[in-house]
Amino acid sequence: MPSLLEMLGCRYPIIQGPIGNMNSPDMVAAICNAGAFGMLALGFIRELDDARRLIGAVKERTNQPFGANVVLMNPQCGEILKILAQSGVKTVTTSVGQPGDIYPLIHDLGLKGLHVVLSLAHAVRAEKSGVDGLVVVGAEAGGLRSRKPESSTMVLVPLVSDAVSIPIAAAGGIADSRGYRAALALGAQGVQIGTRFMVSRESGLHDKWKDAVIRCTDGGTTLLPVQKVLMTRAVITPALEKLIAEHPHDLEEALQYGDRIQAWDRGDYENAIAGAGQVGALIKDIPSVKHIIEEMTS
Ligand SMILES: Cc1cc2nc3c(=O)[nH]c(=O)nc-3n(C[C@H](O)[C@H](O)[C@H](O)COP(=O)(O)O)c2cc1C
Repeated sequence: MPSLLEMLGCRYPIIQGPIGNMNSPDMVAAICNAGAFGMLALGFIRELDDARRLIGAVKERTNQPFGANVVLMNPQCGEILKILAQSGVKTVTTSVGQPGDIYPLIHDLGLKGLHVVLSLAHAVRAEKSGVDGLVVVGAEAGGLRSRKPESSTMVLVPLVSDAVSIPIAAAGGIADSRGYRAALALGAQGVQIGTRFMVSRESGLHDKWKDAVIRCTDGGTTLLPVQKVLMTRAVITPALEKLIAEHPHDLEEALQYGDRIQAWDRGDYENAIAGAGQVGALIKDIPSVKHIIEEMTS
């Protein structure tokens, strides 16, 4: 069975966490050129030409291996995987959904796949479905969460590591060399980094979003209800605090999450939601991704 590093084909077992629709080919390439595994976030892409354009832009900027995240509930998932395989991508991550149906296609295309899991039960099921590895995401992470009680990275990673025999990458709460070393000590072969790479020089994230993360301190994020059965983690800004106080019983309806994510593009900062992990409390600067990777592996 190949190790995580063999599947990634890069120098360091550090994976760039996908962030919704946020794609910066400059950032993916900079991460690859610094020895880690850059990834495009193709999970929510509807137009296949957009996927082709982003892949092409990364290939113009690096000759190192890179990957992409696909979301299993996206009806275009299979077509995106075919484009990735034709483009020479070797490893993908799969999120949000049961992996059983898609992994035969992933393997027929000659790809390896790491499935993103949020719980021990999810991890054990995914291994039985034939995935090649796991990204194990603890409760402190940014991004989508379930509404069930969840374990932190410190608890979930050793639980999963003891229960499965495929390689795992730990995610959630990792921003520097201390978190990286802790993840390896817990049984992971590598890490996936979301919030720390979001707040980097090359990231395409809006400056005010980066600023919201930098201002975030201990206890500075909260889980918000979205899509009827899920939660997502965001920085508690003054505007969000007001919204939560005004809507104790109908927060999900009042939130209109999709619209608030797009509010960044409209320059509507009052209504924008700054998604981020708890680890935002540790982030106080906006370095290059090279600096982040060098410090992490030092
Ligand atoms: C705003 C935001 C959006 C995210 N979108 C996705 C996504 O589309 N697909 C996915 O698999 N993970 C997504 N994630 C999770 C990250 O890829 C990564 O696993 C997570 O941020 C790790 O935790 P950390 O933020 O503590 O580093 C998202 C995270 C954030 C903060």
